[in-house]
Amino acid sequence: MITIVAPTDTSEASKDSVREAVDRLRAGEIVALPTETVYGLGADACNDSAVAKVFEAKERPSFDPLIVHLPSKRHIDLAAEVPEEMAPLVRKLTEQFWPGPLTLILPKKPEISSLVTAGLDTVGVRVCDHPVFAKIIKEFGGPIAAPSANRFGSISPTSASAVQRELEGRIPLIVDGGACARGLESTIVRIEMAEPKPILHVLRAGPITKEDLKNFGKVRYEKNQTVEDNAPEAPGMLARHYAPATPFRLLDSPDTFTPQPDKRYALLSYRGQEKDGYIDLADWEEVAVLSPGSGKMPEAAIRLFYLLRQLDDSGVDEIVCEPIPERGLGVAIMDRLRRAAER
Ligand code: TXA
Ligand code: MG
Repeated sequence: MITIVAPTDTSEASKDSVREAVDRLRAGEIVALPTETVYGLGADACNDSAVAKVFEAKERPSFDPLIVHLPSKRHIDLAAEVPEEMAPLVRKLTEQFWPGPLTLILPKKPEISSLVTAGLDTVGVRVCDHPVFAKIIKEFGGPIAAPSANRFGSISPTSASAVQRELEGRIPLIVDGGACARGLESTIVRIEMAEPKPILHVLRAGPITKEDLKNFGKVRYEKNQTVEDNAPEAPGMLARHYAPATPFRLLDSPDTFTPQPDKRYALLSYRGQEKDGYIDLADWEEVAVLSPGSGKMPEAAIRLFYLLRQLDDSGVDEIVCEPIPERGLGVAIMDRLRRAAER
């Protein structure tokens, strides 16, 4: 299969690319699409054979459900059955965060292919905040299932060229919408209506942080959401994920690392400052800095997957990574780094 990359850098090109994507989605094909978080691999969420192609192209196990994207917040009932007692809270959350990187787990509508939800009776839904994606889904007019556009377990793509690297020859079309503005996958939340306050269970940390969510209920991070658990709530959240091919080590502190003389190392540094104690630990082959200078979290998030790929390609024997302060967006970044370091 030849993979076409469709540009959107002029309004003419954008129109043609949107048309092409919509036609292919209607024909039951799969198309890589830009979102504000990471690139997604989209398919008609109501078409079993289209959805099956997503699993095949990604080599994704069928127990791992896909996120369903909606044309707008008014379309939530295309995919989900919102329980009456939950409706006011769901309305508040979607008013605040949609379009945007928040995925809500809700009871599913029968129209949604059960391949999408891996046989669960719930579905993950969100409205994407990317202008090109928004045009495509509005014209398409129905729900689009889209997981991240990478091979299963590998690093999520934040540019069209990263999608090419992952899926070239396996998918017919990539719509190039530029670099992703957030760089990390959406925050996934399951709501529990409890007294005195609802509980927001965070199944995957992401760009919408605990601080953002705490006005809407008690926020609880679910730890160890892995298939090794008896009843993983977010089935695809394997301990090992987002992993470069090169061995990857996340340090707790500078004194936990002694370089071996015969090995070539790269450093993934938080802000590239000597005073943090990592830059002088070894004679690094490569140093990549997530947020040079003062260490801004949004910048670190945007650059994370891009730099991981770059270091993975640099040919070193091992990538060594500094820890990130675990507050705000830092929680989601550390979640990805821990999974990358898992063997
Ligand atoms: O930002 C994002 O969410 C991106 C873009 C493309 O929208 N998508 C994404 O999809 O990250 P993916 O497939 O890489 O992650 C989907 C994860 C699943 O692995 C699973 O953990 C969780 O979402 N999930 C989906 N449906 C679920 C459900 N019904 N119950 C629990 N977890 C679910
Ligand atoms: Mg993914």
